[in-house]
Amino acid sequence: MKAAVLESFGSQLVIENMPEPVLGTGEVIVDVVATRVLSYMNEVFSGERNYALDLPVIPGPGGIGRVRAIGPDATRLAIGDWVFCDPTVRSRDAAVAPDIALQGLTAAGAGGMLLQKHFRHGSFAEQMRVPTENVKRLGAITTEEASRWCALGTLLVPYGGFLAAKLQPGETVLVSGATGNFGSAAVSVALAMGAACVVAPGRNNRVLADLVRRFGERVKPVKLTGNENDDRESMKRAAGGPIDCVFDIMPPSVSTTVVRAAIMAVRPYGRVVLMGGVGMAGGAGLELPYPWIMRNCITIHGVWMYPPDAASRLIALVRAGLLRLDEYEVTAFDLDHANDAVAHAATNAGPFKLTVIRP
Ligand SMILES: NC(=O)c1ccc[n+]([C@@H]2O[C@H](COP(=O)([O-])OP(=O)(O)OC[C@H]3O[C@@H](n4cnc5c(N)ncnc54)[C@H](OP(=O)(O)O)[C@@H]3O)[C@@H](O)[C@H]2O)c1
Repeated sequence: MKAAVLESFGSQLVIENMPEPVLGTGEVIVDVVATRVLSYMNEVFSGERNYALDLPVIPGPGGIGRVRAIGPDATRLAIGDWVFCDPTVRSRDAAVAPDIALQGLTAAGAGGMLLQKHFRHGSFAEQMRVPTENVKRLGAITTEEASRWCALGTLLVPYGGFLAAKLQPGETVLVSGATGNFGSAAVSVALAMGAACVVAPGRNNRVLADLVRRFGERVKPVKLTGNENDDRESMKRAAGGPIDCVFDIMPPSVSTTVVRAAIMAVRPYGRVVLMGGVGMAGGAGLELPYPWIMRNCITIHGVWMYPPDAASRLIALVRAGLLRLDEYEVTAFDLDHANDAVAHAATNAGPFKLTVIRP
């Protein structure tokens, strides 16, 4: 089968013929129809992000495809089903605190690296082998629609954060990083889950105005100045009442003072979700005051990805019309142009942009 292979960090992807994946029990083989390219894939491939990838590897975190072969233990899947492949691979022998590898992207710790040795290859290929439990049925879609359904991979990340924080309809949310790729997805997911108000801070007035244009009055834009205390007061004012939940998804380049300005806008007894890459490249710590956390009974959730049942629940939100995939502007490349897709994704990051490869 044709695949894009990363041979070494800092090199271009090589498009070549690779052996087809071989099915084992507890696994599914999927014909990949569309897979999204993260805006920072270039930083993963250059080695700048220090993501743990055992090379050579076919990269690509999950995607949309059709079931080609199923193992003997699959009870619901059928050949030909349209599916979303969730890249969040969890060890099956540690139910309480499973190791995690993101298929075709990275892994955490020695256990994650062990998982990655088996489920190593990702979706920049004509076929991929996926753990059965990571294959989520979509129902009927057209081949054309497969590209837009790749947005699930982005939307699922903030959905995981809001599930962890038990977001309730009618609550007020602050999305720190609202003008980014994952942050804008967080705005749309919070609204789909019934948030009454989403405070959206950012530095770019045009992007903030676009969020209001898309989603209406429930979005409250806040222009950031870079002054921690002033910005926090502006965010509180914009909310017009207590902020129940602060969700942060800033990239590694952002300083902790920007994040802290948002976090400490949360109300007493509020919840904070940390999902960004802040600190992954080093730099100062978050330095949240111990007495502030304690006296205000603040709950802080660190969240990597989302629980195993999240994808099916999010698919239901899309099917119900509560979450719209047509917000996304898609640019598609074929596998032969995988390097162009990676470059395009890097220069076309930002809200509701989606770069996909269609193998
Ligand atoms: N936990 C997880 O499971 C998970 C999953 C996927 C990704 N992530 C992480 O999420 C991160 C964010 O990804 P992304 O693709 O959404 O990033 P992105 O599109 O690059 O987001 C940029 C955001 O950061 C803001 N920003 C940048 N520099 C700033 C500064 N100096 N002050 C204030 N705001 C600043 C931008 O605001 P402006 O509009 O004002 O520039 C924008 O809102 C990734 O880097 C990754 O580490 C985590």
